[in-house]
Amino acid sequence: MNYQEAEKKLKSCGQEHLLAGWNKLGKKAREALLAQIATLDAKSLAACRKALASGGDAIDSSKGRAPKVAVLKGKALAEAVAAGERELSAGRVAALLVAGGQGSRLGYDGPKGCYGIGPVTNAPLFYFHARKIYARSLRYGAPIPFYVMTSEANNAATVKCFEDNGYFGLDPKNVFFFTQGMWPGMDKDGRIIMDAPGHVFMSPDGHGGLLAALKRSGALADMKKRGIKSVFFFQVDNPLVEIADPAFVGYHVMQKSEYSLKLCAKRDPKEKVGVPMKFGDCHRMVEYTEMTDEQCNRRDKSGKLYFLYGSPAIHVFDRAFLEREASKQMPLHLAFKKIPFVDASGKVVKPSEPNGYKFEKFIFDILPNAKVAAFLAFDQKDEFSPVKNAEGGDSPATCKADLQAKWRKWLDACGVKVDASVPLEIDPAYALDASDIKKNGICLGAD
Ligand code: UD1
Repeated sequence: MNYQEAEKKLKSCGQEHLLAGWNKLGKKAREALLAQIATLDAKSLAACRKALASGGDAIDSSKGRAPKVAVLKGKALAEAVAAGERELSAGRVAALLVAGGQGSRLGYDGPKGCYGIGPVTNAPLFYFHARKIYARSLRYGAPIPFYVMTSEANNAATVKCFEDNGYFGLDPKNVFFFTQGMWPGMDKDGRIIMDAPGHVFMSPDGHGGLLAALKRSGALADMKKRGIKSVFFFQVDNPLVEIADPAFVGYHVMQKSEYSLKLCAKRDPKEKVGVPMKFGDCHRMVEYTEMTDEQCNRRDKSGKLYFLYGSPAIHVFDRAFLEREASKQMPLHLAFKKIPFVDASGKVVKPSEPNGYKFEKFIFDILPNAKVAAFLAFDQKDEFSPVKNAEGGDSPATCKADLQAKWRKWLDACGVKVDASVPLEIDPAYALDASDIKKNGICLGAD
């Protein structure tokens, strides 16, 4: 793209101020700016401005009802497990990780997946995810291709982490990295913000950017070629997640669901998790910020929370459903943030108050489009303990404690008591659950 083309494009969408400092830029900076302008597309910019004008796509949750949530036990659980095992043995299941976020709350300067969480080895989050996939595919004798979404900011470091660690035992042929899109930030009048002379402020387009990125990168086509039917989705911050859990995959397939969600009872009424609700015939995810106090605290006759279940963002998608959704426009959500900007004199200003908007898409916004959606309850303690904050709740300390409690429970089931004061870590490739420990035997002590 040359200057004239850039000018024409920007004029057509009211963003010609991006070229205001052109004369002061050197050759390299000019090329970089033209490359950034080339990535902007008029349709997306119009969507951002529309979202700004309407205040974003927040939900009016007042008419929402609690969805039907299955709790599997006994025969029903055994049937779901058997169905899931059939899918896994036939190689029809893929794992899909969204790891493009910036992890700013944790204050870690790198891809969150590289953050050390192993209580003994300090192994990174990626290690626990990848080793589970390795062990699960070994158990069922068929590969579980692993699709990892990164962002421009963390793709190189993410790939390096896998390379440096020998892909944690996975065959690189079965690991597919792809990068999500970036959106420019805008001020309240819909003008794109420059955060340095000649540089447009861009941020990742949210985990909902997954759909377009899956399509653009060829990952969806790759899944189809491999005969994948069910896609197990999870977030990078939760090392307790049971990736490609046969009961969940099996339940999803048996229900002929297009979008299935694992849910757990909230730890407190105001827990910061999304809550699925039923509106008429379809379901939507309502973020905790969109619920009223009354809704958070509403109780049924037995005294239980009416909106009991929250989403740990563990999903199974039908691959064909993802394909159908990938070409559609998704709603945009606004985040009002402090964004550095270049002032009229060409100086960079770091604002002390929020001054601009980032735009994000959320993957769960496709939930209402699913012809069939299914909801499965599980015990939060077993599968959900995210690393979100540096300290306090949902921090490395709580996550490590929950990991160790889970492993201690497995050992306990095998007749081995380990005191809570003893640091403990189990490689998922050695044991995915207590049954593996029984089978493989126990060797205690560090090497
Ligand atoms: C999210 C969910 C919430 C859920 C909770 C469970 C949203 C808006 N809310 O909250 O419903 O109950 O997790 O832990 O998602 N990511 C990308 N690209 C991006 C942004 C995020 O890949 O542009 C990834 C992150 O790397 C992470 C995941 O998405 O794996 C979640 O992002 P995060 O911002 O941590 O979500 P929460 O607000 O904690």
